[in-house]
Amino acid sequence: MREQVILITGANGEIGHGLIRYLAEQNCPIVTLDVNPLDKALRPLVSKWIVGDVLDQILLGRLVVEHQIRTIYHLASILSTKAEYNPETAHRINVEGTLNLLRLAVEQSQWQGQSVKFIYPSSIAVYGMPSLEEKRRIGKVKEGEYTFPTTMYGCNKLYCESLGRYYSKHYRQLAADASTEPTVDFRCLRFPGLISAETIPTGGTSDYGPEMLHAAAQGIPYSCFVRPDTTLPFMVMPDAIKALVKLEEADVSKISQQVYNVTSFSLSAQEIYEIVMQAFPQAQITFEPDPRRQKIVDTWPEDVDDSAARADWGWQPDYDLEHAFQGFLIPKIRERYAHKPETIDIAKS
Ligand code: SER
Repeated sequence: MREQVILITGANGEIGHGLIRYLAEQNCPIVTLDVNPLDKALRPLVSKWIVGDVLDQILLGRLVVEHQIRTIYHLASILSTKAEYNPETAHRINVEGTLNLLRLAVEQSQWQGQSVKFIYPSSIAVYGMPSLEEKRRIGKVKEGEYTFPTTMYGCNKLYCESLGRYYSKHYRQLAADASTEPTVDFRCLRFPGLISAETIPTGGTSDYGPEMLHAAAQGIPYSCFVRPDTTLPFMVMPDAIKALVKLEEADVSKISQQVYNVTSFSLSAQEIYEIVMQAFPQAQITFEPDPRRQKIVDTWPEDVDDSAARADWGWQPDYDLEHAFQGFLIPKIRERYAHKPETIDIAKS
């Protein structure tokens, strides 16, 4: 018998770190796939870690031979800022990579005679607010509104949401046996900017939040690349993990849509600055907006409406603004750099 496992792609990233720790505590057998060798600290927590690319179909085929996959968390992705430096490569990784994993999930579902769950993180980057004035006026945005992404990453995420819907509901719809074969159970969350106490993101456009905090804790000067009034929704990593796992666990009868907004709190870069300065008064933080990255952030909503996730499967963040910074991020980050004085490289994205 092949071992029943959870597959995590992009396992070395920020979400992967938190997710592996959480699932390992529940004794879930995990197989990871990442283009880089898995972080040494995570290796004891997984059954197997594979270095490889989501574009490598032979590798993916071999994975299926050796494992029975019951859930896929497909986290591998090129984030919004990085993707703009080579949009076509980002498209290949973000879209073709997702297509490969969806196909693998359908095949697995058919072999097993039951739907494999496919949990996919999407993003506020799928939105494109028409102007800064309207962004301010509109406030919370629902899943079906303003889906006019302006970045390659946002376009990729929005399209992959549709691909997920297609593979789970309409795959090979003209085939004679199409309605009887089980297909993938695709479930997707649109995340706001994420802030982790352990890691910093690589190549995102909401990174100024976590970067400001991590730089201040390390005594590294930091210049914030957006204006002080720039407002986005954010969430701390434990809540992001909670949302992914709760969505995965939700009974299928509770899932009324395949794509859900989730959020915790919204705040401006100035408010992040004030919180950080209060915690680390020696911090050297300046504002030097980069007009091009600013333009991207200005198209992302100030807030999202996550009432569907709350109503359907009981989504509720554990961390509000106060608790996120004072009860979690600041103490954890202080502790992190006290024990590990080596610095995290703040990405010069
Ligand atoms: N945090 C991501 C980024 O900035 C958006 O999902 O690219």
